Amino acid sequence: MYQIPAEIVAAVDSLLAEMTLEEKLGQMSMSVGAEITAIGGSGTGAPIEQSIREGRVGATIQVAPPLEMARRIRELQRIAVEESRLGIPLLFCQDVIHGFETVFPIPLAQACSFDPRRVREVSAVAAAEAGSCGIMLTFAPMADLVRDPRWGRAAESFGEDPYLASIFARATTEGFQGEDLRRNGGIAACIKHYIGYGAAEGGRDYNTAEIGETTLRNYYLPPFAACVAADIASVMPSFNVIDGIPMTANKRLLSGLLREELGFEGVMISDYTAVTELIAHGVAADEAEAAEKAVSAGVDIEMTSACFLGNLRASIEKGVVKESVVDDAVRRILSLKHRLGIMKDPYKFLREDAFAAKVYSAPHLKSSRELAIRSCVLLKNDGILPIDEGQRVALIGPFGDSADLCGCWSFSTRREETCTIARALTQRGVTVDVCAGCDIDVPIPGGIEKAVNLAAQSDVILLALGEPSVDSGEASSRMDLELPAVQRDLANALIALGKPIALILTNGRPLLLDWFDRHMNAILEIWAPGSEGGAAVAELLLGKESPTGKLAMSFPRHMGQIPVYYNALPTGRPWREGDSNRFLSQYIDGPNAPLYPFGFGLTYTSFACGGLTLSRDVLHANTEITAGITLSNTGARAGEETVQLYIRDESASVSRPVKELKGFQKITLSPGERAEVSFRITEEMLRFYRTDGVYTSEPGIFEVMIGTSSADADLLRGRFLFKED
Ligand code: NOJ
Repeated sequence: MYQIPAEIVAAVDSLLAEMTLEEKLGQMSMSVGAEITAIGGSGTGAPIEQSIREGRVGATIQVAPPLEMARRIRELQRIAVEESRLGIPLLFCQDVIHGFETVFPIPLAQACSFDPRRVREVSAVAAAEAGSCGIMLTFAPMADLVRDPRWGRAAESFGEDPYLASIFARATTEGFQGEDLRRNGGIAACIKHYIGYGAAEGGRDYNTAEIGETTLRNYYLPPFAACVAADIASVMPSFNVIDGIPMTANKRLLSGLLREELGFEGVMISDYTAVTELIAHGVAADEAEAAEKAVSAGVDIEMTSACFLGNLRASIEKGVVKESVVDDAVRRILSLKHRLGIMKDPYKFLREDAFAAKVYSAPHLKSSRELAIRSCVLLKNDGILPIDEGQRVALIGPFGDSADLCGCWSFSTRREETCTIARALTQRGVTVDVCAGCDIDVPIPGGIEKAVNLAAQSDVILLALGEPSVDSGEASSRMDLELPAVQRDLANALIALGKPIALILTNGRPLLLDWFDRHMNAILEIWAPGSEGGAAVAELLLGKESPTGKLAMSFPRHMGQIPVYYNALPTGRPWREGDSNRFLSQYIDGPNAPLYPFGFGLTYTSFACGGLTLSRDVLHANTEITAGITLSNTGARAGEETVQLYIRDESASVSRPVKELKGFQKITLSPGERAEVSFRITEEMLRFYRTDGVYTSEPGIFEVMIGTSSADADLLRGRFLFKED
């Protein structure tokens, strides 16, 4: 863990001793754009330059559009350093979620790569681009576990699994922060939204979550714990209420669980106007009470509203808030500024020449393309993919020649830099007839007819459908996860031609694809693949690369199944294949299983797993078991498979999931080749939080499952006994 060096502690304390209360509260205030303002907050109404001079701002968000960012940051930093009484540099923050100008696949897609090394790499690239124009802290990674695809922010998540989300949140953090924040290159990361934001009832953004304590700790906490262990610089509490208490005022979970139990020593930054929103939540009568509750719960910086600035002096004078609470917050903020190296060199991050050279540079685009290739998931293929370069291709659909492939939070990118699918195929020498056929959710007069006529001349139809970037991300919850009717009409008209059709789907969340699964020859899920999306998709369609992605989130078959996720708790009446008993946990009008399960994804060859072996059948606390299988490439092409290890604790003091991912390996094999794939199983992998909050393992029988997806049919099984001695 990062230890604040003694000389920094001393420097922070001596600066703190010089600060007025007003200046301390200034350090705890983050201004947006031109002034401290707020949706629903009081704001100060003062121009930002004046507030900086007066020491009433310590950090900022969204100070300028990207191309003006560096100039504006230099200007504002100069005012802070030269014209404020103490000259404390500002902390410039921004949402750099999946790339700055060069955009990478959305986080949900990144998780589908099962490739944390590349995710670490692209996060470092994003940090290099954003950092060199002055940004010092990004509000990422978002590590909220998601089981409900109606929630638009599923796109920003790493999916439904705590283990996978922990690995990717950590890789992102390491990529952003680098080894040492004081060196050039890294920017501070802020894990969000602590905690349970993804469990919003009904999938409606900002809504209440009900999460029991063992569920909270065993499912929702691990990514946050992993990033605290990786020395993440900051944490953002979520907007929502858990068990009656909004997170921004949740002392038990912020100060108790995160700081005291997990040892988080960094800076806690509220979400946008979340302090003021305590009034709307109904736990604070006014801004003074909102400020008192948030600061007492552990919030150090208030983002964009001005409750701290306007009220904490009076609260301290009245004795409702202790000044030592404010001092501790300011210590953490100043320590972060030291850790970033800006107390020594406030302009350290401004390397405008490097910015110009880096953005959309060949290496950055290559990282983007490579990760996009590995993030796409082949959901169905009856053999029509890959297509042959000599085939005449009809590229139909509103996304065939669209630059809308970058997804939510890609406001810094230049749209003209995004490679479309049509452009990429043409560049690769393919004869492509392109026709939208319809807009995303409205018809184009004569569009379907034109598309059908064009497609009638082709050998194969590529149908590029999906949802636009604005339909996922914050405030983009949907209650209907079908594709718009007009896109289905287009698909229907093309099906009538009887030609092979591959659906190329761009979207930010699992959609309902049952109908498409029955009518398409192939389905390639490309998510929002980023700046090089078109190129990545073309490489896959032409078979120059093979799809290797695996789903990080289950695709429901029907809206009524939501939430449907693989790592559920067992019921007392589990459904069993072929059992005619009605009184089992099941629907009477459809299956329990999702359409495509977690961990699922095809490639252009086929694999078979066989012969699960365990090196022993008893595990002791200090020993390990090796669990292995034989993987064979049974197809005609070389390919890569992601072999997955799941474990189930059959009997414990709390009900444990039917399976939990505990490891995965990517194996590349030539046609006909075989490999032994083995995993080490140790006691640590069996631990969980009990109801008393203790994180431990319990003796008993465990089931081991190894295979190519989380679906029972894709898994081989074995069992072992765990003994504590
Ligand atoms: C609100 C969002 O919830 C959060 O994720 C984001 O970082 C902030 N706004 C700042 O833009």
